[in-house]
Amino acid sequence: MKKYLFLILMTCVPALANAERADYRIIPQPKSVQVDSTNTFTLRPGMSIAYDAGNPEVSRNAQFLRQWVEELTGVKLALAPTDKKAAIRLSIGLAADKKAKKGKKGAELTDQQKEAYTITVNKNGIQIAAREPIGFFRAAQTLRKSLPIIDGKAASIDFPFVSIADEPRFVYRGTHLDCARHFFSVDVIKTFLDVLALHGCNQFHWHFTEDQGWRFEVKALPELAKKGSVREQTVIGRNSGVYDGQRYGGYYTQEQCREIVNYAAERYINVIPEIDLPGHMQGALHVYPNLGCTGGPYPVWQIWGVSRDVLCAGNPETMTFLKTVMGELCEVFPSMYIHIGGDECPKDRWKECPKCQAKAKELGLKNDGKHSIENQLQTWINHEMEKFLAERGRDMIGWDEVLEGGLTDNGIVMSWRGVKGGIEAAKQHHRVIMTPTDYCYIDYYQLKDQWHQPMAIGGYLPLSKVYSFEPLIPDQLSDEEQRFILGPQVNLWTEYVGSPEHVFYMLLPRLDAISEVQWCRSDQKDFDDFKNRLPRMKQLYDRLGVNYCRGVE
Ligand code: ACM
Ligand code: ZN
Repeated sequence: MKKYLFLILMTCVPALANAERADYRIIPQPKSVQVDSTNTFTLRPGMSIAYDAGNPEVSRNAQFLRQWVEELTGVKLALAPTDKKAAIRLSIGLAADKKAKKGKKGAELTDQQKEAYTITVNKNGIQIAAREPIGFFRAAQTLRKSLPIIDGKAASIDFPFVSIADEPRFVYRGTHLDCARHFFSVDVIKTFLDVLALHGCNQFHWHFTEDQGWRFEVKALPELAKKGSVREQTVIGRNSGVYDGQRYGGYYTQEQCREIVNYAAERYINVIPEIDLPGHMQGALHVYPNLGCTGGPYPVWQIWGVSRDVLCAGNPETMTFLKTVMGELCEVFPSMYIHIGGDECPKDRWKECPKCQAKAKELGLKNDGKHSIENQLQTWINHEMEKFLAERGRDMIGWDEVLEGGLTDNGIVMSWRGVKGGIEAAKQHHRVIMTPTDYCYIDYYQLKDQWHQPMAIGGYLPLSKVYSFEPLIPDQLSDEEQRFILGPQVNLWTEYVGSPEHVFYMLLPRLDAISEVQWCRSDQKDFDDFKNRLPRMKQLYDRLGVNYCRGVE
């Protein structure tokens, strides 16, 4: 009998010791987390989530939460909007606001404050409060990342008592993906968006066009994507002179783009499309050689780098082409920001092209010692684009080269060649997105030992360096100037990244690092603590089936 009792105890003890338990040490770290680990609330299968079913956005977020709990723990919860005894309750309105508003009119909220939420776990269950439905989404992601990851079904999950109050630091929290050098399917883009949403990222910068391929359907120009997306072959490695002999192509129909926009919006991500102009255009020139200064022919480029053949600034058909493209782009993408590229536009052809020079003369452009004629010609194009977009209620973003010919009235500068351009623009009271190569170019290697990693463009950008980025540059910008920095972004160029596995390898976990730069106050950041929180995120990536870099430097 004693022996049997012993055996029963021995089988029970591990089960008790291994009670499944939530852990709130997640990435990005919430603004404030106060845990009382001595007490727990136990969530069991069949318990319910209550919420305002009259609000479709709130309902969707409740469904996300239910889905994520089941995916990670096997615990099935019920959606029971009116259940007064529900274990998880979603309610609009923050307790802090109710207190503060007594007798006072509320001040205008910032966009970050609109994302705020609180999670309170006590003996009554899990209470989620948010100012707006987006806060429920953020809270659901926080709970998702706090869950234990179980093979099979957990009998229950213990949630330590906690009080979480959270909201992001920056209004703009971006990630870019180049889908022009290599094309990624709609399903891959959706997984990419899921991963961004997991990290609180709210802007997807979708790079559509390059010398090596045009990937956005324009209905008024049906040949553009059909022919401009296909290169006959691709150089192997770094412009080795050896080619793979394989046709390569792919583009996104407008219907697919709309599908992506909706999918992203359900995850509170805005999609910023980029048509890179007037350079990086050989994909389009292949179809419309009349738009180049020399008249072509121009094959869709098969090598990496930047073509010297760009749109002819002096040909009136160029502006018609750009307005047709941008007009359809604005119809498909509701984003308040539209990216016009503007980077790396060699001026060799413009200097020699009679049409470009005639246009410069007509515009009265003169070298003023600071801005060359050709740089000002590019600014003229930027101005036209800015006006065109403004008429459609959109703001123009350009890479920091848009500063070179004198900045347009309201252009937003994406500072990539260091932070210098961003500083200059902020000092001129222009809005800025910080994405300097040294901290934000995740097409660089992330480990020193390059031989045992998938190929990268070069450079070395370890996780610790991404994590150390401070986008406000406080030693060079005043408090007033810092207000023009919208936020940071990481960029993933794909010359050497051809598969989804490689995309996620480059992205993760460097996205974890930038997510803390984007979300957390600088005094909250601690790389050692961050590293301790990473293994659970990696467990989650394993469960989600997305690749990531195993090493940490
Ligand atoms: C860029 O990396 N050419 C913006
Ligand atoms: Zn020209």
